[in-house]
Amino acid sequence: MTEERNEDMKAKIIRIDREHIDRKAIREAGEILRNGGLVAFPTETVYGLGGNAMDSGAARRIYAAKGRPSDNPLIVHIADMESLKTLTPEIPEKAKKLAAACWPGPLTMIFRKTEAVPQETTGGLDSVAVRMPSHPVALALIREAGGFVAAPSANASGRPSPTCAAHVEEDLAERIDMIVDGGSVGIGLESTIVDFTEEVPTILRPGYLNQERLSEILGEVRLDPGLLSADDGARPKAPGMRYRHYAPKAQLAVVEGSTERVVAKINALAAERRAQGAGVGVICTDETIGLYGDFVRKSIGKRTDEEEIARRLYGILRDFDREDVQYIYSEAFDTPQMGQAIMNRLLKAAGHMCIQV
Ligand code: TXA
Ligand code: MG
Repeated sequence: MTEERNEDMKAKIIRIDREHIDRKAIREAGEILRNGGLVAFPTETVYGLGGNAMDSGAARRIYAAKGRPSDNPLIVHIADMESLKTLTPEIPEKAKKLAAACWPGPLTMIFRKTEAVPQETTGGLDSVAVRMPSHPVALALIREAGGFVAAPSANASGRPSPTCAAHVEEDLAERIDMIVDGGSVGIGLESTIVDFTEEVPTILRPGYLNQERLSEILGEVRLDPGLLSADDGARPKAPGMRYRHYAPKAQLAVVEGSTERVVAKINALAAERRAQGAGVGVICTDETIGLYGDFVRKSIGKRTDEEEIARRLYGILRDFDREDVQYIYSEAFDTPQMGQAIMNRLLKAAGHMCIQV
């Protein structure tokens, strides 16, 4: 496998049904990974861009394909607990407890790393991020690839994470060897990251599993203070949480407050931009879509269905890149369980532009 890929070669796309996994297709994908190539595959959170985690060349190819800074470490995906022992010299008791409750699933844990893990995979850090996904296609592929698959989200760096194979194709088709299409993902936001190299387990990235759920299992769980502020005073510990991300091409702002005030404010701001000759988009809900003027309105779903809101967020941000809009205003979605994760991603996409009303 050479460092440079021929850009004319498009990724081979194979469809694998999660209910009836085609062994031959999985073997073909696994062989590419064992030989140092790159395969995008579905997980329950978002699509991942896989490479052999124990091969520094494969890790370098992942950074190059995504256009990702090489100091932003990758998550190593495993398919069984035994594999964890190869990656870390000691598994804290609390981590074992969390793994028993939440793996396989939308959870990533950070540990001290062993020598076996290449520096390229961890972006030069002496810790390693590990996840055991629950998607049956992901698990089958990891096993077939030899047990250790490094996989960041399969988007070009800075773009919204992919929630279906078409998103991967859009960003990476010319840059990787294969895309395994397993349909749409279930959750739509990346895994919750919990750091076990700290005294108190610390959430570095909120996700489907929230602080309350983690505390039920672990007792005290902290939230990385760097996540709460938009300024650089407190830097998020996960390198990937420091960059502007998930960003649509148009300028996005979030408006937060009571529904009535939010609708009024968005209508006013959007009308002002329109008067200046700009195209304007609105991200709203089924309940409010009828209350807006004639802008490019997209409903994210029912306000009461937070799983749908999470699942559709990245797809809507991508859809707006196909519209002729320069400004997008979004309602805030402070939902009960996933609100922290949804707002974390939405505010990052907005470069933390949030208007309170
Ligand atoms: O749901 C997910 O986690 C998806 C799927 C494909 O599994 N993967 C994913 O990977 O979101 P990625 O690379 O897009 O995000 C990994 C995040 C980044 O913010 C990175 O900085 C952080 O994890 N990270 C990785 N290793 C770390 C470490 N040793 N210490 C702190 N943060 C780390
Ligand atoms: Mg990512």
